[in-house]
Amino acid sequence: MSISNLQIKNLRNISSISFAPSSAINIICGENGSGKTSILEAINVLGLTRSFRTNKARHLVQTEQASTVVFASIDPMAQGFKQSLGVERPVEGEARIRFEGGDIDLSTLAELIPLQVINSDTFMLLEGSPAVRRQFLDWGVFHADKAFIQLWRGFRRVLKQRNTLLKCGKIDNQLRQVWDREFIAFSDQLTRLRIEYLKLLKPEFDKVVSQLLGDMDVQLGFSYGWDKKRQLDEVLASNFERDLRQGFTGSGPQRADIKLKVDGHNAAERLSRGQKKLVVSALKLAQGALFQRMNGRPCIYLIDDLPSELDSAHGELFCKVLEQSSNQCFITCVDDSSLNAFWHSQTDIATFRIADGDIAAPM
Ligand SMILES: Nc1ncnc2c1ncn2[C@@H]1O[C@H](COP(=O)(O)OP(=O)(O)OP(=O)(O)O)[C@@H](O)[C@H]1O
Ligand SMILES: [Mg+2]
Repeated sequence: MSISNLQIKNLRNISSISFAPSSAINIICGENGSGKTSILEAINVLGLTRSFRTNKARHLVQTEQASTVVFASIDPMAQGFKQSLGVERPVEGEARIRFEGGDIDLSTLAELIPLQVINSDTFMLLEGSPAVRRQFLDWGVFHADKAFIQLWRGFRRVLKQRNTLLKCGKIDNQLRQVWDREFIAFSDQLTRLRIEYLKLLKPEFDKVVSQLLGDMDVQLGFSYGWDKKRQLDEVLASNFERDLRQGFTGSGPQRADIKLKVDGHNAAERLSRGQKKLVVSALKLAQGALFQRMNGRPCIYLIDDLPSELDSAHGELFCKVLEQSSNQCFITCVDDSSLNAFWHSQTDIATFRIADGDIAAPM
């Protein structure tokens, strides 16, 4: 997957720009507030119809404009074809996605554009709630198994209905058993897919960790969302009174989590800031490597302020991992000279300098 041409209109301080990125490494540099992150945000809109910085379109869309439009020529299956994709995000109402002249839905778009973002929010993979790690995990399962999306939607539906009944107290033990049969069937399948995915991810993760962090021992574990030594039906039955009191289901895949440990200690408590950046980046890079192995096509990486938190040796290792992958990378930094020395002379690098929301020609 790569973007060969990108046009952005009315997004933050960008009124209208158009440029042809490299299919390998793109460096976007410029002063604070020039619009570097906004370019990454635009690519995120192209792949997911939304920003990674805000849920509110009015913050994303340029002041006094009605909508932002991102348009690109893409090669989704990396077969040498160019196809046109456009996403319009209005201040009010739904986003519109056009692919090769027809409307497509969000899950088709997500399948088309496998995006990975590494920015300051990525630290949440270690420091944030389990929901952040489940979202990371489910990105992988979504792209690894066609069955996942239907399964996940089915599970959310049953969970929502079970929680509604618990909240209004309209459920007794007998009715609970009827609902739990469906809940457990979805839970078992969902959990099996998550475990299978993590099994495949682990060796990729170990490889990237050893490239970025040497021989540091970082273990990736999985917590089901309930005590795995017990059957889920038994757990749901014994927690029923508590679920009723709380008005929601306290155990199940909606509580699943990824556990990261360093030498047996909780990684979030143990690691330095730079080490955390390398570990969360390793998770994202491993996911891209596995995606490439399973689907035969690379991901797009949006990496905001790559040099921040990293010393020069680790910055160089990070760049080496990126250039050895076949991903298309969009990397922002204030000063590109901080990265210049790290690239191999053969690597296809395009550098774009941005000032006041406008872009100069590739250098
Ligand atoms: N809705 C909007 N309409 C117009 N301008 C906006 C809007 N939202 C933000 N801006 C401006 O757009 C610019 C966005 O900059 P952006 O965050 O992309 O900068 P950056 O180059 O990544 O800077 P930094 O190096 O500080 O991270 C800022 O100058 C900001 O004030
Ligand atoms: Mg920025």
